[in-house]
Amino acid sequence: MLTIIAAITFAPPIVIAHRGASGERPEHTLAAYQLALEQGADFIEPDLVITKDGVLVCRHENEIGTTTDVAAKSEFAARKTKKEIDGKTFEGWFTEDFTLKELKTLRAKERLPDVRKANTAYDGQFEVPTFEEVLKLLRDWRKKSGKTVGVYPETKHSTYFGMMDLPLETPLVDLVKRYGYDKKDAPIFIQSFEQSNLKGLRRRTKARLIQLIDAVGRPFDWNLTEDKRTYTQLVSPGGLTEISMYADGVGVYKDYVIPRNAEGNLGEPSSLVRDAKQSGLLVHVWTFRNEDQFLPKNLAGEPEEEIKRFIAAGVDGLFADSPATAVKARG
Ligand code: G3P
Ligand code: CA
Repeated sequence: MLTIIAAITFAPPIVIAHRGASGERPEHTLAAYQLALEQGADFIEPDLVITKDGVLVCRHENEIGTTTDVAAKSEFAARKTKKEIDGKTFEGWFTEDFTLKELKTLRAKERLPDVRKANTAYDGQFEVPTFEEVLKLLRDWRKKSGKTVGVYPETKHSTYFGMMDLPLETPLVDLVKRYGYDKKDAPIFIQSFEQSNLKGLRRRTKARLIQLIDAVGRPFDWNLTEDKRTYTQLVSPGGLTEISMYADGVGVYKDYVIPRNAEGNLGEPSSLVRDAKQSGLLVHVWTFRNEDQFLPKNLAGEPEEEIKRFIAAGVDGLFADSPATAVKARG
């Protein structure tokens, strides 16, 4: 059955729960997403990879040794392997080698146990969720609370999965349509660090698209073309105009908007927000985290102040590991 979602306008800046409320629960679990809803996030961000049987699941990467208990499961010991993904070698267990049924026997664990020790209390409790389960969670939350919270899925390693005949975009577009998000004003943004899959999605869905811009490097799919440019060139005024032909905004590493100086202190805003707006693009920034090791030196202990500086710089959206902090900073 097709779900109907009413159009909704969120007052900027939107608060995007980065991998759920991942500062307080193991990332990419229904518990992390649920807590983000309770904290007042406007959007929930699931990173998407895929199973052997073509089901979209929520993990930051397809290697699952770091965020699940797969290493302790003797029945999967033989699945440990090495793979090259987007030019880098990884050793571990990979979602595309597991059916959904197999993946559902695993339990999530905290990625950063030394930094987020309290979260390890939840290790072993939560399943790896599917993207469809996230859409159902949001649908149920809408019915229960009367509040619409959006979804902000990221396609991970699009070229890699496409080359093994497991394209993420096929089930993604199907779910976007079935759950009522195939509209320009629907509460959804689809993001990618690659460019060609966003251009392809532009032809397949009306949902809004976000070009991610990493701190260094370039879109992986450009390695398959003659394009030798970098992400930095893609956020030049000319690059932003190019992005505006297929996407609705950029999701940038936050130093592009306010760089840090050599001492690690937050400096002055760059021209990026102004340049992007001239091209009609939204600017969403990542990632805000509460812990001092992630904060500018001059703002240690003040995660809200960091966020306020970015709001003052004119950003339209904030990816936050602790949505409660971003909601409070926004006021
Ligand atoms: O998608 C925005 C931000 O999450 C990008 O970085 O690596 O955390 O997915 P990553
Ligand atoms: Ca992401």
